[in-house]
Amino acid sequence: MGSFKTVLTKIEELDPLHSKKIKKDLDGFDDAFYEKADAFTDRFEGYLKKKGKDLDYGIDCYLKMIADVRIETMHFVRTGEYTSKSFEDTNARVYNNPDVMEYYMNALLLSQFLWGHHYTVYNYFIDNLPKYKDGIDYYLEMGGGHGLYISEAISLLKAGTKFDLIDISPTSIDASRSLIENNSVNFILSDIFKIKAEKKYDFITMGEVLEHVEDPVALLAKLGELLKDDGSMFITTPTNAPAIDHIYLFNNAEDIREVIDKAGFKVTEEIGIYSEKVSKERAEKFKVAMMYAAFITKK
Ligand SMILES: C[S@@+](CC[C@H](N)C(=O)[O-])C[C@H]1O[C@@H](n2cnc3c(N)ncnc32)[C@H](O)[C@@H]1O
Repeated sequence: MGSFKTVLTKIEELDPLHSKKIKKDLDGFDDAFYEKADAFTDRFEGYLKKKGKDLDYGIDCYLKMIADVRIETMHFVRTGEYTSKSFEDTNARVYNNPDVMEYYMNALLLSQFLWGHHYTVYNYFIDNLPKYKDGIDYYLEMGGGHGLYISEAISLLKAGTKFDLIDISPTSIDASRSLIENNSVNFILSDIFKIKAEKKYDFITMGEVLEHVEDPVALLAKLGELLKDDGSMFITTPTNAPAIDHIYLFNNAEDIREVIDKAGFKVTEEIGIYSEKVSKERAEKFKVAMMYAAFITKK
């Protein structure tokens, strides 16, 4: 099985420019990180093997996403806008396009360890979710994508916790099913807006979906209907992050907090990590992407 260093070396060979960015990003990460990253690489390789693919294929998927991000970034720098304008268009072009979604979800999975800000937020989730453990019997992940977050929740929460995962993309549902490797999750292939609030959850996780809709307040409010009144949610969303399926532009953390507030929630705890190691002033001036994450409850 390959180690994480194999992944880094391969990326250096194939895309030296991007490799420099990863090296800067991971500078200062300790041995504990590399141990976890090695374990993840083994798991990623096993997951690809089940699909008849190897680690090189996974790395190619990642570099395809990087090529997409470069194109989207050129447009963003020129216009200050994301290219995608409507959910309908993104749904057809990305979520329901298995060719695109397949490489995109593999890439996003690998980015959880290759991008410092993704890893920091993923680790923040792992460190903090156990605080909510006693109150969680019924857990939902909305827009699970690759399934990494729900797979962590399964190992962190009580035995007997029921898990649902909703995603609009058949490719994402398949990816999550392959990664999770057990039958503890009820997979629901649906647009979240079509889900009726018949069951209510104790906890909902929604990573990187708020920026994928035209109206993030409506999306959070929809999740509010599915959440028990004393329930909690974990959400993540980036600012200034051009990608093929990002529609709603958050300029800064304040824009996100405003959406949270308007949808009837308040923040219990939060973090925001820039994708480059620069000061807040420089990050805001040059529109450097930031990953925002928060645990929130109903007001
Ligand atoms: C960028 S991925 C996020 C993956 C993962 N949660 C993470 O944080 O890395 C967004 C996921 O949300 C799903 N999604 C987007 N809009 C949705 C909607 N309206 N209803 C259900 N799923 C949706 C997509 O299919 C995709 O799998």
